[in-house]
Formats: sequence, C-alpha cells, structure tokens
Amino acid sequence: MDHSTALRPPTTAPEVGFDEHQVPLYYSKKTADIVYKYGPGPRIHFHVGLFDAAAAPNTTVSQAVVKQRLVASQERILRHMADSWGVADAPPASLLDVGCGLGGGSIHWAQEYGARVTSLTNTAEHVPLIAEFARRAGVDGRVSPVLGDVHTLGELRRYDAAVAVESSGYMDRTRLFEVMAQALRPGGWFGIQEHFLCRPEWTDFIDGYYKTRLGTLTEYITAARAAGFVLEQDEDVTDRVREFWVQSMAWNAQELERLEAGEASPVARDRLLDSALAHGKFFRVWRDHAVETRLLLFRLRAR
Ligand SMILES: C[S@@+](CC[C@H](N)C(=O)[O-])C[C@H]1O[C@@H](n2cnc3c(N)ncnc32)[C@H](O)[C@@H]1O
Repeated sequence: MDHSTALRPPTTAPEVGFDEHQVPLYYSKKTADIVYKYGPGPRIHFHVGLFDAAAAPNTTVSQAVVKQRLVASQERILRHMADSWGVADAPPASLLDVGCGLGGGSIHWAQEYGARVTSLTNTAEHVPLIAEFARRAGVDGRVSPVLGDVHTLGELRRYDAAVAVESSGYMDRTRLFEVMAQALRPGGWFGIQEHFLCRPEWTDFIDGYYKTRLGTLTEYITAARAAGFVLEQDEDVTDRVREFWVQSMAWNAQELERLEAGEASPVARDRLLDSALAHGKFFRVWRDHAVETRLLLFRLRAR
C-alpha cells in the first residue's frame, strides 16, 4: 500500500473489546464456501440482494435456479445503489472498495463505470482470488487488490469515492469515518450498504454469527458528522432484501438434502444445519425490522 501521501494517523484509538484478528480468520475459513455458493464469478459477492418488496419467488425449483436468483439479487442491489447515487452521471475516476471480499463489487465499479478501483481486504486469501477474477473480467489493469486493515489506512486525498458494502459492520465507525475523511478528496462520496440494529435483543446472535459489531444508524451519522461528512441519502431497503434469507435458506436446505443423499459438498454438514436455523431467525428479524438494511450516501464537505 502506498503510504507516501499519509498526513497523520487517525486520532482515535481502536474500540476496545472487539477482536480484530477473528475477522480475517473467519473469512479465510469461509472463502471456499462463498465461492461455491455464489461463484463461479468473476463477480462474486457476499452481501444480501434486492428483490421486489411484494415478490415471493417459488422455492420449489432447482438449486441452480435459486443460486441464479441469489446472484442476480446481489448484482441488482449494486446497480440500484449506483443509480440512486447518480454514479453514471459523474463516474469516479478512483474508488476505494473498503472490505471488498472477493472483489465482485470492485469489478462491477471498474467494468460498469470505468473506475480505477483499490480493493482493500484484511483477508490475505482474498488477494490472489480478486486478481484472478479481475483478470477473467478483463479489468486487471483497473482493479488493484491490497491487503490491509482500513483502521490503519494512511492515505491522503487519493480517492474520488469509496464504498463499504456490508463491511462497515466489522469496523470501528469513529475511526472508519476519520480515515475516509483523509483518504477522499473534498467533495468525494462514501457509499455504504449495511445492517443497522433497531432492537438490542438480536445483537449478540447476529454479531456472534457473522463476527460483526453492528451499530445503529445514529452511531454512524454521529461519527460521519464528526469527521466532516454530510448525509445525502438514506434508503431503507429492509423489505426488499428480506426475501434473500428465504432464497438463501432454500439453497442451504437443498445442499443439505444433496449431502444426506450421499452426494459430495465442500460445505460441512454442521455449518449447513447451523445456517438453516440462523436463516429462519434472520428472516424474522428483517421482517420485524429488528435490524434494518440501508443504503447511505455520505459526502465529504469541501474544506
Ligand atoms: C460481508 S464481506 C463483504 C464483502 C464485499 N464488500 C461484498 O459485498 O461482497 C465483509 C468484508 O470486509 C472485510 N473486512 C472486515 N474488516 C475489515 C477491515 N478492518 N479492513 C479491511 N477489510 C475488512 C472482510 O475481509 C470481508 O471481506
């Protein structure tokens, strides 16, 4: 990572009580499962996807059809945020994809909008995979995978835009917004897709399952304002993403059935059982708005 333009390190200390090391460990163990369920790529995503609010697509269909739906819904939410945020009207020349996973989003921003994307992940196993997927997508010249922790990013005014798609839930928000206020050029935007806690009863369950530290919308807005951002858009997509849990549950159930019929699966049986239980809860949590998924667009004030 090029730290030559670093001005000063972020001013706040990382939040105590959260084990930073468990996240890359969790993702390195999970990478093969993600590629299997959402692959083969080259745009592989690990985030919820968008459905019509009233739609309830029949799940008594083949596992391949369910998988296509999951992937299509993930692509749809990326297109939706780009449209809502007016990206096509003013495409960013340089974009930082914070917590990029396997780089599906990075490749999307490079392919669809011509952005030069820095794909930041704290999971070493992701780096060669992102490079390979970018090569397969024909955008290896525009997608640069970088191994690093966003909390220690020291870049200065390097990007026109940044996104964090279901990754900010792993981060210390005060520090994240401070870092982004340094890394973006004045007037640059920071787009976020994230889940926000509305009812505290579910915090331990969700954070325990995904190793996150989800926060509230108020917490984000407070941290963003303190760092010099203004909130330009706040879209609640909870009712349009909850179907993702039903479709994902259907995929898992069919995988379990395949396994029990003696077929091979790279996903462990215990993991599939755990996941089936968890998905039922996720659906209820999202239906009840105990957690909300939102698309937020922040803009860094011109100094
Ligand atoms: C749920 S995945 C989302 C991946 C991707 N944005 C997507 O939508 O497909 C969260 C990602 O955030 C990354 N991540 C979590 N904490 C991070 C940190 N402190 N610095 C950089 N990346 C981080 C993880 O490695 C993981 O790839």
